[in-house]
Amino acid sequence: MNNHYKSRRRGWRRSWSFVAATTGATIGLGNLWKFSYLAGENGGAAFVLAYLICIVVVAMPVMIAEVVLGSRGRSNPVSTMQDVSLEAGASSSWQLIGWLGCIAGLLVLSYYSVIAGWSFAYVGKLLGGEFVAASAQLSGDMFNNLLAAPALLMQWQAFFLLSILLVVALGVRKGISVAARLLIPLLLVMLIALAIYSSQVGDFKAAAEFLFQPDFSALNQQALLDALGHAFFTLSIGVGAMMAYGAYVPDQRSITGMVSTVVLMDTLVSVLAGLAIFPLVFSLNMAPAMGPGLMFVAMPYGFGNMIYGNYFGALFFVMVSLAAITSGVALLEPATVWLAQQFRWWRPVAAVVMVLVVWLLGLATIFSFNIWQDIDLFGMSVFSFLDFVTANLMLPVGGFLTAIFVGWVMRKEVLRDELYVESRQIFSLWHWLLRYIAAPGVLVVFLWSLSPWLKNLFIE
Ligand code: PHE
Repeated sequence: MNNHYKSRRRGWRRSWSFVAATTGATIGLGNLWKFSYLAGENGGAAFVLAYLICIVVVAMPVMIAEVVLGSRGRSNPVSTMQDVSLEAGASSSWQLIGWLGCIAGLLVLSYYSVIAGWSFAYVGKLLGGEFVAASAQLSGDMFNNLLAAPALLMQWQAFFLLSILLVVALGVRKGISVAARLLIPLLLVMLIALAIYSSQVGDFKAAAEFLFQPDFSALNQQALLDALGHAFFTLSIGVGAMMAYGAYVPDQRSITGMVSTVVLMDTLVSVLAGLAIFPLVFSLNMAPAMGPGLMFVAMPYGFGNMIYGNYFGALFFVMVSLAAITSGVALLEPATVWLAQQFRWWRPVAAVVMVLVVWLLGLATIFSFNIWQDIDLFGMSVFSFLDFVTANLMLPVGGFLTAIFVGWVMRKEVLRDELYVESRQIFSLWHWLLRYIAAPGVLVVFLWSLSPWLKNLFIE
């Protein structure tokens, strides 16, 4: 790579800053809200196991590959792919990975911002004591009332988008990593405390069985595709975010080591969130498969019936909101940096334009909960369809292409140049997983999961 790249100032000097910022980008609604409802919908433990396997053998090698690309290219995902493919003597069409990532990121953010808006709204609701001594029924009704009010949803979504706009426009990378450094330990402590509380008042045994005793008959095609998609979603890969963050990776630090720490923390948060939510779900006789409302109905009920619950509850949703902000930034960053660099725009202007696009796209999700409730796309609501296309298709496709490019197209010496701190064994294991497990793994899951659907499509 030419000197222009080498001489560019490294972003974070210490590995902990990189780990904190990246953990902030990975821990978010995916761990707290989505993991629990997906586990609930897909029968629990078998899904959790499939998800963990996907994390270790597919998503983690791809995440390392994405960080390596970012560290090599040191630019926005599109330019990074252009430069790196040029260096590899490969076709410039590989920049498709960058494009796909930027588009997927904006689409994910369009619904992510709506859900984050719910979390913002719940801070006020809990502080205002709306859930004091609430019944499960009341908690469910409150959630449905929020979904039925498009103007309110729009207001909270806009509020969330403005918060991430501020961060991305100012380019306060340092701020993010400082915030994440405070937030992550606090979130962990709070989740542990909540899991203990839930285990006291809720049905911990049923929850533990549900989450850890696999019933493999529940592992159907849908569940496996959900597990794969969620592994990508939760680690924020396939949208170019890790390329953007990898551009600031500190020198002389083990990328595989840093990524492993991030993955460990991300997984821990998901499991703890599951242990906090499911004991309540089972003691309340709620249906684990009730869908996206699971966290927003179970947790407020739990808080409403706890001493000082409104304060703890408000704090919980403040943390969910902050975790969503640090992830939202990662979703917005790649497209913004691309726009700013491509047209030499001032970064805040690029960020405003992208936020406007996302805000408009987000209206589709908002309306899908109320005025467009009856619209059906392949048996899904507009929101579920967007979620399916991005998390279950676009992210894994982006990851698959990354695995092929880094595993098969880039020269090994170049990769070794970026991963020079790791031992030979670790490097070879990573490269082997990327080539022979991650890339074919995505294909196998796709073929198996989508075959009935494709068959229907063609037979009809
Ligand atoms: N990983 C984030 C979460 O779990 C979501 C995300 C996906 C963020 C893709 C950035 C890129 O909430």
